Amino acid sequence: MASPFRLLFVCLGNICRSPAAEGVMRSLIEAEELADRVVIRSAGTGGWHAGKLPDQRMRTAAQNRGYDLSSRARQVTENDLIDYDLVLVMDQQNLRDLRAFDRTSQFGSKIRLFCEFCTDHQESEVPDPYYGGEQGFELVLDLLEDGCRGVLAHIRSTLA
Ligand code: 4NP
Repeated sequence: MASPFRLLFVCLGNICRSPAAEGVMRSLIEAEELADRVVIRSAGTGGWHAGKLPDQRMRTAAQNRGYDLSSRARQVTENDLIDYDLVLVMDQQNLRDLRAFDRTSQFGSKIRLFCEFCTDHQESEVPDPYYGGEQGFELVLDLLEDGCRGVLAHIRSTLA
């Protein structure tokens, strides 16, 4: 069988948006019985929370929709641009930070804004919920559920 498609979600802390993206995407991929064909991970541009579980507020909001978030935070590395087929970032700052790793500009097409894959929402970024209230975490999940459907369609087209 062909090697699996490798997908990395990236945000700032890797404790809110990108682990939630990982959980939502994994749930979709498992429901589609594609778990052995797609590798899903997440990382943060910052390393302050390395080793930690996702933020409890994000875990609770995700749990209420049936997603179990149990990844451990880690900081993104330059090698991730080699190791992954697609790196989906949550906001423009993440995009700038990842592009700065890509010193020879050879990986530009792999690094994309997650919201490009949304169809039901007009937002261009997944807003950082860390310093806000509960609603921010719900919006994150709304955007992730929308965009992950688009990501699934994209991956399907590359696996076909
Ligand atoms: P995330 O949210 O990037 O979605 O994981 C944040 C988590 C932590 C911090 C900022 C954003 N922080 O400043 O510690």
